[in-house]
Amino acid sequence: MEKERPLALGAARPRRLRANPLVRRMVRETQLRREDLILPLFVCPGTGVRREISSMPGNYQLSVDLLVEECRQVAGLGIPAVILFGIPPHKDAVGSSGYDPQGIVPQALRALKAAKLDLVLIADVCLCEYTDHGHCGVLHGEEVVNDATVELLGREALVYAQAGADIIAPSDMMDGRVGHIRRVLDQAGYSQVPIMAYAAKFASGFYGPFREAAESTPQFGDRRGYQMDPANAREALREIELDLREGADLIIVKPALAYLDIIRAAREHFQVPVAAYNVSGEFSMVKAAAARGWIDEVRIRDEILLSIKRAGADLILTYFAKDVAAILP
Ligand code: PBG
Repeated sequence: MEKERPLALGAARPRRLRANPLVRRMVRETQLRREDLILPLFVCPGTGVRREISSMPGNYQLSVDLLVEECRQVAGLGIPAVILFGIPPHKDAVGSSGYDPQGIVPQALRALKAAKLDLVLIADVCLCEYTDHGHCGVLHGEEVVNDATVELLGREALVYAQAGADIIAPSDMMDGRVGHIRRVLDQAGYSQVPIMAYAAKFASGFYGPFREAAESTPQFGDRRGYQMDPANAREALREIELDLREGADLIIVKPALAYLDIIRAAREHFQVPVAAYNVSGEFSMVKAAAARGWIDEVRIRDEILLSIKRAGADLILTYFAKDVAAILP
């Protein structure tokens, strides 16, 4: 092989393709599209309730009536999907309000279905919003018991499918829950309802503001016994593989920013749509710094969302969805 000679100055000038906005637009490799966006929403009891989440400016706990109005707007912006989280009126040790057919999320799903919006309704399935101890499952002492929890998650998933959920999204990180939910849905005639599994979900400090929003902070301990260790990339691939074998149709990597390598690896290893959850803490950091005038919110936001796409995500769950959709061409 011929030895590479040093290039003469000026032979290669990458700046030629950066000369003006038109050329830059032509050679842009990654695009954020409206179709990529999924907006998380929090639904609470009552009517006429619109309570701002202090650590997440512009995000609210909404009662069902106002949630429907919000979703009408969201659909109008061309955002294809929302994911719903419930704040129930009562919590107990086994999270019964999570699988009550009259619960807050089923109520919301029925109202949204009746409104006939062009919107895919994703229901997050977990128990942490519904348990009084704030853990994602039932306890034996201080341990979250896997198989008994999976059983309840199956019930929750079925109740949501019956209420009209278009996609079921288990976020609990119990072992075997995707397979169990798949069987429960199939047996009840919901074999066409896809499962979007939070497959690689890390035990992350970035969930802080969400726990204020969903009132789901664990009352003791933490979630490290079921969510993944932030140090582990190989294990993330194994988690994804298991969820796919159990029947997941789409997978989620969560959080996004500190885990861009996991998003990239998921994209390269698996032939299913990959979603990334740009979580509450990632949103709040930008808002807080921007509020102090330390950063330019719009630039930073767009740069972050683009980085998630560039890493390989097909879909992004983000609290920025409305802001971005409003300015996308
Ligand atoms: C429920 C759940 C959480 C998030 C999504 N689903 C919280 C948690 O695991 O503590 C976090 C989302 C966010 O931070 O935006 N298990």
